[in-house]
Amino acid sequence: LIITTPHDLDSFRHLLGDGSGWGLSISYAAQPSPDGLAQAFHIGADFVGDNPSCLALGDNLTYGHGLSQALAKAGRTTAGATVFAHRVEDPQRYGIVAFGPDGRASSIEEKPQAPKSHWAVIGLYFYDGTAVERARLIKKSARGEYEITDLNASYLRDGALQVERLGRGFAWFDAGTHASLLEAGEFVRILQTRQGQLIASPEEIAFTLGWISTDDLIRHAEPLEQTDYGKALMLLASEAAAPAK
Ligand code: G1P
Repeated sequence: LIITTPHDLDSFRHLLGDGSGWGLSISYAAQPSPDGLAQAFHIGADFVGDNPSCLALGDNLTYGHGLSQALAKAGRTTAGATVFAHRVEDPQRYGIVAFGPDGRASSIEEKPQAPKSHWAVIGLYFYDGTAVERARLIKKSARGEYEITDLNASYLRDGALQVERLGRGFAWFDAGTHASLLEAGEFVRILQTRQGQLIASPEEIAFTLGWISTDDLIRHAEPLEQTDYGKALMLLASEAAAPAK
């Protein structure tokens, strides 16, 4: 379920369609005004129901070896919530988690003026089937938003919040400003150019996971063949027939 502004909804629909081309099923919903991230569970209440869910912020970029495995593990949990934390220089800008001597989360605060740690909660949250019910109880914060941090705090109070720290081997960008969007784009460009491998290509992921066939991949690549992106997809399709070099 993609949730965006009423204004941007059609652009996303035009870009991504129903997702079937990648073996996905995508639906859409509008958030009429920016009333906070936890509102996703009000808007998406019927979509999520009492199933486990994952919320991913569209302006976050996370990169690192072993990330897929860490996400798969978080996705298998059916009780409690799992969030990820990354060290930042400017903790006043984020949801900040502090840890007790046992290494477990001891507090979680949204944009604290006096941060208790440098560990920011990144925009990738895994919840059990109680998220919708918990989100209903959240009141708007002083800044007028239904805070995702309040949903996470509800799990923390119940001893049900697992915080996975992403260490130095991970890069995390919150591309919510022009400058940080440019930085994130540059990061992706540098790695893709250097390694000759795509980052977060939906076609590559779908193909690797077996959701689409080699023919489907080629169908995606053909209209883009003049671009580096299309060439990379074509290469992937041809490599599938031969061992990796
Ligand atoms: C939001 C969350 C914050 C989180 C951040 C991650 O902040 O409220 O807890 O650390 O995303 O990107 P926002 O970007 O909405 O200010």
